[in-house]
Amino acid sequence: MCKGVAFITKSFYLIIRTIFGGVKENKKQLGGVIVSEQTLIPFEGTKEQEQELKAVIEELKDEKGCLMPIMQKAQGIYGYLPVEVQQMISDGLAIPLEKIYGVATFYSQFNLQPKGEYQISVCLGTACYVKGSGNILEEVSEILGIKTGECTPDRKFSLDACRCVGACGLAPVMMINDEVYGRLEKKDVKGILEKYK
Ligand code: FES
Repeated sequence: MCKGVAFITKSFYLIIRTIFGGVKENKKQLGGVIVSEQTLIPFEGTKEQEQELKAVIEELKDEKGCLMPIMQKAQGIYGYLPVEVQQMISDGLAIPLEKIYGVATFYSQFNLQPKGEYQISVCLGTACYVKGSGNILEEVSEILGIKTGECTPDRKFSLDACRCVGACGLAPVMMINDEVYGRLEKKDVKGILEKYK
C-alpha cells in the first residue's frame, strides 16, 4: 500500500461535503461505502484506459504520497473520476474505496462527473450572489435537468458553481466555456442556452 495517504475519516468528509458541497441524492452502496450514483452518464471506460491506469499504478505505487498523483493521472486518462475508476485505484493500491472517495470529494480538482462539451459555471461569489446568481443557477439546473456538478446524458452541458471570476462589475455572472455572460436576469437564461443546442 502506498504511504503518506492523508487520513480523512468518513465522518469528516461527510461533514465537509454537507457544509461545502451539499448532500447528494442518489446514493448507492459500493465496497461498503455509500457513494454518489452515476445515474445520468454510464461509465464507458475502455480496456486501453484500464491498462494505462494499471501501468500508472504499477509505476507509482511504491512511492511515498503516491495517491494524489495516481488520482490526477487517472483523471487525465478518463477525464473524470467515476466510482469505477476509484475502485480500480482502490484495488491497485489496496486502499479502501472509502479513502479514495474521501480524497476525491475533498479536493475540488477532482471531478466525479464528466464535463460537458459546454461547461457552464455560475458565479456564487458574494457580488454575484447578492445580485441573484442563486436564481440563475436554479434556472439553468431546471432547464437542463441536471444539478450542480452533473452533466447532461448527451454530454453536451455540465453545470458547476464557482467563486468570483473577477467580473464583479457584471454581476451576476455566468460563464459557458470562455464566454462570459453578465448582468443576467433569470429570463435571459433560456435564450442563452438555446444558442448552444
Ligand atoms: S463575485 Fe461573481 S464575478 Fe466576482
